[in-house]
This record gives sequence, structure tokens and C-alpha cells, in this order.
Amino acid sequence: MSAVGTVLVTGGAGFIGCALSQKLAGSAERWVVLDSMHPQVHGDTVRPTELYDDAEMIVGDVTDAAAWDTLLETVRPDVVIHLAAETGTAQSLHEASRHSRVNVVGTTEMLDAFGRAGIVPGLILLSSSRAVYGEGQWRSAAGELYVPGQRSHAQFENAQWDFPDSEPVASSAARTWPTPTSVYGATKLAQEHILSAWVEAHDSALVILRLQNVYGPGQSLINSYTGIVSLFSQLAADGKSIPIYEDGKITRDFVYIEDVADAFVALLKHAPKQGLVRYDVGSGVGTTIQELAQHIADFHHAPAPHVTGAYRDGDVRYASCDIEPTTAALGWQPQWSVERGVAGLQDWIAAQA
Ligand SMILES: NC(=O)c1ccc[n+]([C@@H]2O[C@H](COP(=O)([O-])OP(=O)(O)OC[C@H]3O[C@@H](n4cnc5c(N)ncnc54)[C@H](O)[C@@H]3O)[C@@H](O)[C@H]2O)c1
Repeated sequence: MSAVGTVLVTGGAGFIGCALSQKLAGSAERWVVLDSMHPQVHGDTVRPTELYDDAEMIVGDVTDAAAWDTLLETVRPDVVIHLAAETGTAQSLHEASRHSRVNVVGTTEMLDAFGRAGIVPGLILLSSSRAVYGEGQWRSAAGELYVPGQRSHAQFENAQWDFPDSEPVASSAARTWPTPTSVYGATKLAQEHILSAWVEAHDSALVILRLQNVYGPGQSLINSYTGIVSLFSQLAADGKSIPIYEDGKITRDFVYIEDVADAFVALLKHAPKQGLVRYDVGSGVGTTIQELAQHIADFHHAPAPHVTGAYRDGDVRYASCDIEPTTAALGWQPQWSVERGVAGLQDWIAAQA
């Protein structure tokens, strides 16, 4: 990867950033991380042990124009991997400004700083999210595809979890129109649009990876707003019964961190010289929360999970993606089943204790 020269990774001290550094930093000329070390994610950690030893780390905020100007005096990135974000999907409903400031304004501050410094990176990679799809598409009993939109507060109150007489369809960047149902999802979609407009106007290249639910070793164990697999694991390891929302049939596509890092590696080999491409990155398999909780409880011989009927406004009922276009384009294939990934994560959590 030495041809790519200097790589700048915003939010590069986080879960995905550290995993990428282990796979890629050794073959870059420079690997520079800009990260605010968000206390909700890192507690009082100064530098994560999972970050590649030779990675240069600058503590700074992507919303801070002066921090950008100072950074770009000495760092001229050839590739930018933009990971810095507020990531609390449910939290974003109540802290919309905070999520928008970091995710949207943080992105525009970065681009404005590039403009002031006269820098046009050859490639920008954005870690976008399945949250941009919202509920995506569903298929009616008559076989028609439709976009159901968001479940209302009244529907939740009446425990109408599913859309009547319909089944969900896996999302795909090629055919699913984004309709986010969370403020977080809306900010991730805004990042996509902003970067796309800028890159097209500067003859640069943008790759958008719409990631499903990433889990695995290195994910923050103290951030109660993300990382359901880690949260469930800690409950079960403590011998507690895992509480499950709705009727237990909320479905997610859980993709292991190794597979996600490998997708970024494949991507850098196949990145376009100019223009925009979008890829879905997941396991391609939908797992209900009940199934996930049961795997984890079984692993720890914990009491059976219990369905609570509780819900969160804005929560999506079903999320999974069609990975076939991504595997075909990148020659990448996820290797980790949920069973194997859950086991791998438990060993890491135990080692942290
Ligand atoms: N983990 C997932 O399941 C998942 C799924 C879809 C998309 N994503 C996206 O991937 C990216 C990385 O997620 P992650 O799971 O590694 O999360 P993370 O919270 O572990 O990492 C995010 C990093 O960004 C840093 N950060 C937050 N605000 C910042 C700011 N204002 N300035 C500079 N740095 C800041 C944090 O300190 C943290 O180190 C995010 O953009 C997220 O939206 C993650």
C-alpha cells in the first residue's frame, strides 16, 4: 500500500480505526490519526493499546477549524478515512445538535480546511451506516415492493412491531432509497451527500461503505449507546438474563470487525481514481436479537434472555444487506459467522477484565 503515501484517519483511535491501523498502517508512508478521544467511548484513556504502535496520534476535534489548520501544516493526506462521528443511534433523537455538529459540521470543517490548505486528497473513504436506509424496502403479500417509512410512536405503544402482511427485503446501495429513521442516520446520509458534492467538484474519488452492525474485540465496553453484542456479553458473563426489546424479533446483520477491516483492505486495492462508489458491508445474514442473546447466554450458561416488550422510538425493525455486489466487485467475502464471532469476542472481554 506504500503507493497511497500519507493516510489521515479521523476518529482513528476508535474501534474500527484501531482495527484498520493494525491491517494497513504498516504499509502506509504515514498513518496519522485525528481523534478527540471522546470520553463516552474512551473514558480517560490517552491512547488505545489497539492502535498500531507507529501511528501518529493527534488529539483534536473535527469541528475545530484551528485544529485542522494546524494539522494540515504538516500533514498532506493522499487518502482520508473519515470515521470520526457521534454514533449513538437512540441518543441522537435527544442530542440531535451534538450528533449533527460532529457528523455534519465536522465533515464540512474538514473540507473547508482542505480548501484553505490547498489540499485535494486523491481518495476519501467514508464509513457510512446501514442507518441511512431506515426500514428500507418491504414486500407486500401481493409481491409488491414498498417503502413503509418509520414506525410511529402509536404503533410502538400498541405493540404493532411489524408492517402488516409484509416481509422485509435486504437493503442494497443499488436499489434501496435511503430513508433514515434516526437523527444519526440522517447525519450519516448528509455526510455522504456533502462528500459526494465536494469530491465531484474536485475530480477526486469517494468510496462510501455502508456498514451494518460491526462488533468484535476492541469495541468500547463503556459506551452504553453502541455495541449491543458487547453489552449483552457483559450481562451474560455476570450471570444476568439479557433483556430484549419488542418481541425479540428485531433483526440485524452482525458483521465481525476482522471482516470489516478486510473489506477496507480490499477496497483500497480496488478504489476508483475518480468519482463515487457505494458498497454495503455486512455478513449478509439477518439475526434476530433473540437469537443473538440466546447464543451469548448459552456461551456463558447464563439464564435465558427475557422479552420485555420495551421499545425505542425510531428503532428499525429489520436491517440486513445484500453483499453480493460488494463481494463481486472487491473479491472480499466475510469469514465470521455470528457463533464464531460471539465466541471470539467473549475471550477478548474476559481478557480486559
Ligand atoms: N461500529 C458500527 O457498528 C458502525 C456501523 C456503521 C457505521 N459506523 C461508522 O463507523 C465510524 C467509526 O465507528 P466506530 O464503531 O469505530 O466508533 P467509535 O466510537 O469506536 O470511534 C469513533 C471515534 O471518533 C472519535 N470522535 C468522536 N467525536 C469526534 C470529534 N468531534 N472529533 C474527532 N474525533 C471524534 C471518538 O473518540 C472515537 O475514537 C463512525 O463514523 C460510525 O458512524 C460504525
